[in-house]
Amino acid sequence: MRIDIITVLPEILESPLNHSIVKRAREKGLAEIHVHSLRDFSSDKHRRVDDYSFSKGAGMVMAIQPIEKAIETLKKERDYDEIIFTTPDGKLFDQKEANTLSLKKNIIILCGHYKGVDQRVRDHFITKEISIGDYVLTGGELAAAVITDSVVRLLPGVLSDETSALTDSFQDYLLSPPVYTRPAEYKGMKVPEILLSGNDKLIDDWKHQQSIERTKKLRPDLYKKYSG
Ligand code: ADE
Repeated sequence: MRIDIITVLPEILESPLNHSIVKRAREKGLAEIHVHSLRDFSSDKHRRVDDYSFSKGAGMVMAIQPIEKAIETLKKERDYDEIIFTTPDGKLFDQKEANTLSLKKNIIILCGHYKGVDQRVRDHFITKEISIGDYVLTGGELAAAVITDSVVRLLPGVLSDETSALTDSFQDYLLSPPVYTRPAEYKGMKVPEILLSGNDKLIDDWKHQQSIERTKKLRPDLYKKYSG
């Protein structure tokens, strides 16, 4: 899978997508991630990418020219399945959307900034608008990193069997069960007996029951979907 991210702040994305599992996925060639500076596509002599809003006092707006140039440049090279815009007024991102995106071949993520983007960009170029939560970030870069991270770890071969994405929280509307490691007892705090039993069937049943209990308690909204 290939992900092209277009941003005014490429530096922000250097670190989160260059560590651990995502880094390994890139090295193995399972995910190709390219970060493009929007300024490189500006026809302005000062490389400006924003301008004043036609509605007075509304703050700076990302202009259409550099965005169109960036998208068209990429589209000349290959077809894209989805052109995503990160924005707090987009559709709330969830595991289901991550699963859907992980099946695509090529996607572009345009990071929002300033007071938004010229509406013509959204109307004519963007195929999907995504928010990562009901709060406002200073820009869409962290949202793009969140989306990319959650999608890349789902790609075949990225996770080992042990860390398989199939057992993730949310994959079937249930939260993951609690986990423990050695020592079996620490300052009087004990690991549940059943985990030391060596009985895989009993342990699996216990894990499933724990998932249900946790989901009921911590995320009743999810539990409704699970039992629903
Ligand atoms: N840009 C600013 N806030 C955002 C959010 N919550 N989700 C996606 N992009 C954003």
